[in-house]
Amino acid sequence: MMLLRRFFSTTHRTNVKVSVLGAAGGIGQPLALLLKLNPLVTELYLYDIVPHTPGVGADISHIDTNSYTKAAKGPEEVAEALCGAELVVIPAGVPRKPGMTRDDLFDTNASIVRDLMEFVCKFCPKAVITIVTNPVNSCLPIAAQVMKKNKVFDPNRLIGVTTLDIVRSSTFVASIKGMDPTKLKIPVVCGHSGETIVPLISHCKPKVDLSKDEIVCVIKRIQNAGTEVVKAKAGAGSATLSMAYSGARFVGAVLRGMTGESNVIECSMVAHDYCGLNYFAGPLLLGKNGVEKKFGLPDEISDFENELVKIALPILKKNIKRGEDFDNCGS
Ligand code: NAI
Repeated sequence: MMLLRRFFSTTHRTNVKVSVLGAAGGIGQPLALLLKLNPLVTELYLYDIVPHTPGVGADISHIDTNSYTKAAKGPEEVAEALCGAELVVIPAGVPRKPGMTRDDLFDTNASIVRDLMEFVCKFCPKAVITIVTNPVNSCLPIAAQVMKKNKVFDPNRLIGVTTLDIVRSSTFVASIKGMDPTKLKIPVVCGHSGETIVPLISHCKPKVDLSKDEIVCVIKRIQNAGTEVVKAKAGAGSATLSMAYSGARFVGAVLRGMTGESNVIECSMVAHDYCGLNYFAGPLLLGKNGVEKKFGLPDEISDFENELVKIALPILKKNIKRGEDFDNCGS
């Protein structure tokens, strides 16, 4: 049974069905919770393949916010989760264990993303898709290949979520200066793993005054922050709570754009013919149809940031090619 609450107004719409694929996992559950609290979400479908998926759905559905929530378990229920979805979030896949890089997840997660994207192409080809699954640098191109094969690819509706890098940048820089992190905005460009994460401290708003040593040190920490969490969790997974917060923040921004708010800008990774690459992370203007404008790199960055970009580009290119070449995507 579908309970629909649809509210229309002439300028702003507030009826969006959101589906989370991988919703019973470490990221999926708190992300679903945060989305249940977002008033722009009117229908929330929680899809996973594990037996406790209906329990996660039942649990979240008891929260007294103004949205209909339902779980869907396994491929036989995926159509219900996806039909009519306008925004799909994919955190399905295995996380890192100590000693692993994000790239080490490729063999398992590539086929998970490919298979889920086949469902998306079949049941909600016009939805905005946000990919959380690592390695994002490769999973985004895999998702695009599947969409191309199915002739439904729209570069403005497929996004790799890099928001956690932006969140960490604000937190770490603010902690050095004793500032409120919610007041800092630092763009992060290139990609989402190790040296492909390039925070542009010189474009921090408001400006912060850091020494060269502080900049080198904080950038290293941002680039390795995921590993910091993986080590501290000692085999129990990678960042889940901060990622759920970041995912909810990014999805919230996409929803604000989709429902008519203007000037919504967040960084993330999209198909972008830029710097000799097919995909690039940078500031995006989000609007009614997903991404409305991709800003790429600002005109002026510091010499040090320029060096970091030079290091990042060939690694990112390799990561992207690995995704594009993933066999079984066809095209
Ligand atoms: P997890 O193992 O706790 O949860 C993953 C969930 O995906 C599980 O519930 C599992 O049953 C589900 N799943 C697996 N295959 C599926 C399929 N075919 N269909 C539907 N669901 C499926 O892992 P966690 O910690 O939630 O991480 C998920 C992914 O997010 C990992 O790849 C991780 O590396 C990535 N991640 C991404 C970040 C980013 O900044 N983009 C940050 C942190 C993690």
